[in-house]
Amino acid sequence: MHGKTALVTGSTAGIGRETARRLALMGADVILVGRNPERARAAAGELSREAAGRVVALTADLSDMAGQRRLAEQVTERYDRLDVLVNNAGGMNAERRLTRDGVEATFAVNVLAPYALTCLLLPLLRAAGKARVVNLTGGMPDGTIDPGNLQGEKKYLGWTFAHYNQAKTALMAMSHRFASRLEDGEVTVNVAYPGHAYTPGNQATPMRAFPYLYRPAAPLIRLLGPLLLSDMGKASHSSVHLASSPEMEGVTGVYVNARACRAAWPSGALDTQAQQAVWSECERLSGLDPDRDRPVRS
Ligand SMILES: NC(=O)c1ccc[n+]([C@@H]2O[C@H](COP(=O)([O-])OP(=O)(O)OC[C@H]3O[C@@H](n4cnc5c(N)ncnc54)[C@H](OP(=O)(O)O)[C@@H]3O)[C@@H](O)[C@H]2O)c1
Repeated sequence: MHGKTALVTGSTAGIGRETARRLALMGADVILVGRNPERARAAAGELSREAAGRVVALTADLSDMAGQRRLAEQVTERYDRLDVLVNNAGGMNAERRLTRDGVEATFAVNVLAPYALTCLLLPLLRAAGKARVVNLTGGMPDGTIDPGNLQGEKKYLGWTFAHYNQAKTALMAMSHRFASRLEDGEVTVNVAYPGHAYTPGNQATPMRAFPYLYRPAAPLIRLLGPLLLSDMGKASHSSVHLASSPEMEGVTGVYVNARACRAAWPSGALDTQAQQAVWSECERLSGLDPDRDRPVRS
C-alpha cells in the first residue's frame, strides 16, 4: 500500500480504527475520520507512532449533507487522488430520529453518507487510476427492502437489527447498483461483512434496543460479549482484504463475508425495484449524480 492514500470513515474506534491501523501498517497514507476532533487527533497520533504511512485526522459528522460535503472539500483541498475509500461509519438507533436535514438517522449514516461521499470523491478516486470503494454491511442483511418505508416512515423498529437490517440491505442494494454504474473498472465498489465484534458501538447498545424477550438476558449477553464476539483484528479482515488485496484489483460488485470469502448477495439487495427505490432516494436526498460527478442541484 506504499504510495496509496486511504480514507476510512468512523476510524476513531472499533472496526474502522483497526482497518485504518492495518492499512497504515501496510504503508498507506491514511485519513482518519470521526465526529470528535480530540478523539480523531488522538487516534491519528497513536497510529502514526506505529505505522509507516502518514496518518492524518479529519473531523466530520457524516449524518448530514453539510458534514459529508465538508469532508469531501477538505480531502479535495489536500489530496489530488484517493486510492481507497472505506465507508465504515454506521450503526443503529433504538428510536426513530431525524438528522439536521430531516433524514431518518439510520438511513442517513448507513446508506446516504456512503452514497454521497462516493459521489463527491469520485473525481479523486478516478484520478487514482485504479481505486476501491469498500462499504460495510452488518446485522442480518438478508431481509427485504420496503421501498415505501426506507426511512421508517410507516413503521420503525429500532430493536436490535430491525430497521438497521433494512438500512444495511439498502446499502448493499445501492453498492451493487453503484458497481454496475462504474463498470469501466477504474473505480470498484464492493461490500464487506465484518461479523459481530466487541466494539464501543456494540457495547453501547441500549437496553431498549433489545426485544422485550431478550431484555432479562441482556446483562449476561453484555458480560459474555468479549468471549462471544470477534476482536478487531478478525472484524477488520474483510474490509482490509477488499481495500488492499492484490486479488481484488479491478474486481467489482462483490460481497465478502467475515472470512473475506465471496458470498452470495442477499436477494433483497438484488431486487431491481428495491435497488431503484434506494438509488432514487439517495439521488433525491443528496442532489448528487455519480454519472456526472457533480451535484444535480446546487
Ligand atoms: N460491531 C459489530 O458487531 C458490527 C457488526 C456488523 C457490522 N458492523 C458495521 O461495522 C461498522 C463499524 O462498526 P463499529 O461497531 O466498529 O462502530 P463503533 O464502535 O460504533 O464506532 C463507530 C465509529 O464511527 C464514527 N461515527 C459514528 N457516527 C458517525 C457520524 N455520524 N459521522 C462520523 N463518524 C461517525 C465514530 O466516531 P466518533 O464517535 O469519534 O465520532 C467511530 O469512529 C459500522 O458500519 C457497523 O454498522 C459492526
